[in-house]
Amino acid sequence: MNWPHKDLIAIQDLKPEEIGHILDMASSFKEISKRDIKKVPTLRGKTVVLLFYEASTRTRLSFEIAAKRLSADTTALSASGSSFSKGETIMDAAYNVMAMSPDCIVIRYPYAGIPKKMADLLPCSVINAGDGYNEHPTQALLDMYSMKERFGTLKGLNVAIVGDIMHSRVARSNVYGLKKMGASISLVAPKTLLPPRVETWGAQVLTEFDPVIPHADVIMMLRVQKERLHDRFFPDEREYSFFYGLSKRRVDMMKKDAVIMHPGPMNRGVEITCDAAESARSIILDQVENGVAIRMTLLYLSMGGTSNVD
Ligand code: CP
Repeated sequence: MNWPHKDLIAIQDLKPEEIGHILDMASSFKEISKRDIKKVPTLRGKTVVLLFYEASTRTRLSFEIAAKRLSADTTALSASGSSFSKGETIMDAAYNVMAMSPDCIVIRYPYAGIPKKMADLLPCSVINAGDGYNEHPTQALLDMYSMKERFGTLKGLNVAIVGDIMHSRVARSNVYGLKKMGASISLVAPKTLLPPRVETWGAQVLTEFDPVIPHADVIMMLRVQKERLHDRFFPDEREYSFFYGLSKRRVDMMKKDAVIMHPGPMNRGVEITCDAAESARSIILDQVENGVAIRMTLLYLSMGGTSNVD
């Protein structure tokens, strides 16, 4: 496929066949990470700048590892320690970064819309590593890859996404992507953690967890985003965990081959117990492993990689 996109800002911008192409290509990139020498020359001479204005462990590290495995040069900047702390705007920072001729900027920002603005105004590739409550497209792609790896297809899968839907860019991107790929989605949350107009997303919306469990192929637990909870959305963590946490009792209600996912970081004892996170059904660390392969694929495609993968 001739890749038509300079940037990756939103799952909503991708056609189903483009999502399929990314998921197919990622398997070749995953193989590179299993070699003794985990490095290929594919993006030699390219420069990737990681701008992370919000905390990250998995996304930032996996983009950096992905770029290095493809031989690109990387450099990273966070809000603390940058001139953001002196009042410089994000777009001023972006123009200054651009003056140093990067080939790709990976940006995480606490508010929606900045990656799109950068993509529209800068000549280099821009990849959205999460913008506010809006989208986290690379997370959804690695999640879809992990589901397809386990079940062989996304078409017809029943996926339950459970927890803080309101503040979750992971939920939005997964709903958009999974719908395009033919999966059925149930969103489960207390009413207070459902966003306005959630019924327009094209998913079944429920406020009770137990009834969906026996039908789900995938149960994706979402983190309660304590840093974004400026109001009281539920009485206390104990009660939240009782009604919406994935516990051993609920794991025992799951279908025989169903799997547990979580984008991380987990609040153990709140949305997921240690039993559930570490059960044989958990593919949470597969998601992290697959994140490197997906991000290698996206860096390769965004920067117009034309040589053989290996
Ligand atoms: N899933 C995810 O985005 O994790 P990080 O915040 O650690 O990058």
